[in-house]
Amino acid sequence: MDSVGPLGLQQGDGAPGCPQEALPCPSNSPELVQECLRQFKVTGAQLRQIQASLLGSMEQALSGQANPAPTVRMLPTYVGSVPHGTEQGDFVVLELGAIGASLRVLWVTLMGTKGHRMEPQSREFVIPQEVMVGPGQQLFDFAARCLSEFLDAFPVGNQGLQLGFSFSFPCHQTGLDKSTLISWTKGFRCSGVEGQDVVQLLRDAIQRQGAYSIDVVAVVNDAVGTMMGCEPGAGPCEVGLVVDTGTNACYMEEARHVAVLDEDRGRVCISVEWGSFSDDGALGPVLTTFDHALDHESLNPGAQRFEKMIGGLYLGELVRLVLAHLAQRGVLFGGCTSPALLSRGGILPEHVAEMEDPSAGAARVHTILQDLGLRPRASDTELVRHVCAAVCTRAAQLCAAALAAVLSRLQRSREQETLQIAVATGGRVFERHPRFLSILQETVMLLAPRCDVSFIPSVDGGGRGVAMVTAVAARLAAHRRLLEETLAPFRLTREQLAAVQAQMREAMARGLRGEASSLRMLPTYVRATPDGSERGDFLALDLGGTNFRVLLVRVATGGVQISSQIYSIPECVAQGSGQQLFDHIVDCIVDFQQKQGLSGQSLPLGFTFSFPCRQLGLDQGILLTWTKGFNASDCEGQDVVCLLREAIRRRQATELNVVAIVNDTVGTMMSCGYEDPRCEVGLIVGTGTNACYMEELRNVASVAGDSGHMCINMEWGAFGDDGSLGMLSTNFDASVDQASINPGKQRFEKMISGMYLGEIVRHVLLHLTSLGVLFRGQPTQRLQTRDIFKTKFLSEIESDSLALRQVRAILEALGLPLTSDDALMVLEVCQAVSQRAAQLCGAGVAAVVEKIRENRGLEELTVSVGVDGTLYKMHPHFSSLVAATVQELAPRCAVTFLQSEDGSGKGAALVTAVACRLAQMTHV
Ligand code: BG6
Ligand code: GLC
Ligand code: GLC
Repeated sequence: MDSVGPLGLQQGDGAPGCPQEALPCPSNSPELVQECLRQFKVTGAQLRQIQASLLGSMEQALSGQANPAPTVRMLPTYVGSVPHGTEQGDFVVLELGAIGASLRVLWVTLMGTKGHRMEPQSREFVIPQEVMVGPGQQLFDFAARCLSEFLDAFPVGNQGLQLGFSFSFPCHQTGLDKSTLISWTKGFRCSGVEGQDVVQLLRDAIQRQGAYSIDVVAVVNDAVGTMMGCEPGAGPCEVGLVVDTGTNACYMEEARHVAVLDEDRGRVCISVEWGSFSDDGALGPVLTTFDHALDHESLNPGAQRFEKMIGGLYLGELVRLVLAHLAQRGVLFGGCTSPALLSRGGILPEHVAEMEDPSAGAARVHTILQDLGLRPRASDTELVRHVCAAVCTRAAQLCAAALAAVLSRLQRSREQETLQIAVATGGRVFERHPRFLSILQETVMLLAPRCDVSFIPSVDGGGRGVAMVTAVAARLAAHRRLLEETLAPFRLTREQLAAVQAQMREAMARGLRGEASSLRMLPTYVRATPDGSERGDFLALDLGGTNFRVLLVRVATGGVQISSQIYSIPECVAQGSGQQLFDHIVDCIVDFQQKQGLSGQSLPLGFTFSFPCRQLGLDQGILLTWTKGFNASDCEGQDVVCLLREAIRRRQATELNVVAIVNDTVGTMMSCGYEDPRCEVGLIVGTGTNACYMEELRNVASVAGDSGHMCINMEWGAFGDDGSLGMLSTNFDASVDQASINPGKQRFEKMISGMYLGEIVRHVLLHLTSLGVLFRGQPTQRLQTRDIFKTKFLSEIESDSLALRQVRAILEALGLPLTSDDALMVLEVCQAVSQRAAQLCGAGVAAVVEKIRENRGLEELTVSVGVDGTLYKMHPHFSSLVAATVQELAPRCAVTFLQSEDGSGKGAALVTAVACRLAQMTHV
């Protein structure tokens, strides 16, 4: 390109050389040199301004403020803690972007706490220029080829290898092994990579290469690798600083200060990406005409302005531009230039380092300049050395201002007046430029006087740190596999659900026919849903759910009015003697009557009794077996209405007129049926689970009559008690069943309802802890405690509006000390367990509605299901999962789910009302 750059430098083929007649050195030459060198001087005030402005920008980016766009990115990495030193294993590290046009592959062995440190083996490959700016696939294929070539020297065979990818460009990381390139920097400009996940691109290339089985487990920025690879000294090293081709730093920030993160605990490593810092106010006065020229000629004009004053890639360029300028003005080299002096990249950073080194003699400088095609005079070497020193000193000072900004940020976020901190330094500028570190140190002391900073050179150019992160990532990936394996049996396929539906249909038919079946299919003597003509005042009891309620239900022309009171049933009463339980119930009724001013009145009473009863009429129910948490003695096999009447007599309470005993499913169906006549199914998903529906009387073998309908209480909680659900039952289900008060019973209920889901989750968590996947493998006493994990926690934890940190707070309140990784896994366990529950429930409903449709010989059925129960109502996703499953398995039924608003007591009152009306009619 023949052009005149901003400095008026001649570029292009014809330009280099000497003036026709060698110009004598202009008389103003010292001033011209001074003038050039002066441009590179930065005052203390300017450095302070840069420090303050960078700090402002960092804090703005941390707080998520987007307007105006902050000039540093502050990218969270997935590194949450500095290494423990326990990491071990063999790792392959691939470094791209840290060292200019080279790519490095390392074999790192971490020895954990035992053993000595092993030197990594490494090899560097030069990336051809056309690959650095060609198609992205070419670059990644090149990387994969280098990897195989490197590994060919190792006896790896077909052993799986774990690779850490050190990729040193600004990226949005969304996982330890997921990172999207924001933009290329430092001389790279491959097409089709920006906006892509670079880990995936590398994986694809390795796959195409096909030579080795390599798992890319982590992606890490070089600054992070530098920090993580630092040998822990007196204290942990919490800042990483890189000055190589480019420059950047990372540090451990308090997670609660990082707006984009959903975390309030602990720390997270932030990659500052300070190379992009560009504040006109602060940087403007410092920028020289040479900086502008360099930027103008770069691959990314206008970007990475700060990096272009510090990074090794640019130091050589700046020196070249100054020297060319001075040569063209006749001040240097007798006014002669050379092609190397006039072309980009002509002076390499290592030339600058050597020429700047005071210990290198003038002869060395002379040689380097000669190699560049120049003809240096004796006086030139000293001037050139000054130029190199000016450029590098400014770089070190600017770097110090930036580091001082990071230190001030640390001081602020840790609320510490004075800060003692170790900074890991890495990159070839530190290694090559003898004075860089000392100038940096001096300047930092001036700018951050309250920080006591020790600088620790990184080990193995950050490769070890990348291996550290990879070790952690590999452990997490192994944990994830174990988690997936553990949860796999909870994830049911459509075929499995269809099989459950089919088995349920089978069991229903057998139960109705009176044959052996795990479904009892109990007739309820409720023959019709309400028709709206019911009237009167009724008492109702509602026993068997979370709450025991006594209610006064007024059914009038304008609708139904309910007053109710909740009473507790202590566990010792629920599991004590039957007499005690029924005496307690009567005490509660008497108390309620007094409070309502009903003493002495004998209102008809409907009794919601949510346990399996064989009914011989509406007001007779023989308790077949207790379920859920009840186990009062001497009740099974007894008529519950008689037990209640006896207690009334014992208490000498007002005669109560018990008219109907109703299961909660039936109460719920009746209650919803009052609003919607299509409601012909009742469903409970609460402490327990069960369903009822309107069956054709002709199908009910145990009740005489061939026409009309009867509501059947399925008692589906017991479905599978004959072993038919064995295939679906996990070890965790078996543990929950074994520890329950009714082992072997209610197997379907134990996979679905609120009383058990928390326990299933607890058993899964115990298992994952024993595998070392959760809670660092330390079983806590709390987690061993039965029922500690309430089902309401599932509903809370799975709520979409809840941040992960709230999940953690819930679990910590339970005394479970966990990390964010733990919290996420617990959430996944809850989701798997509740999803299975909802799907099984859906398969059951599908069986019921399909039966009704077929009973009626309909192509399509429109039906409503009245639903109640804490789990169904409180869980954020349960109801939609049930509905989705029903739609999938019973596509010919249009099913509407109605949530019961008033509980099943209202339904019990309605059943009572119908019974009273019928009784009156027979009296008439
Ligand atoms: C209530 C009904 O609303 O829900 C009870 O009134 C029923 O009859 C209960 O037993 C079921 O839910 P849970 O969650 O209380 O067991
Ligand atoms: C550039 C990159 C950054 C890297 C730094 C040092 O600034 O954007 O990610 O850390 O160079 O290599
Ligand atoms: C249990 C009871 C059943 C009740 C269900 C919901 O399964 O056996 O009768 O309907 O819980 O409360």
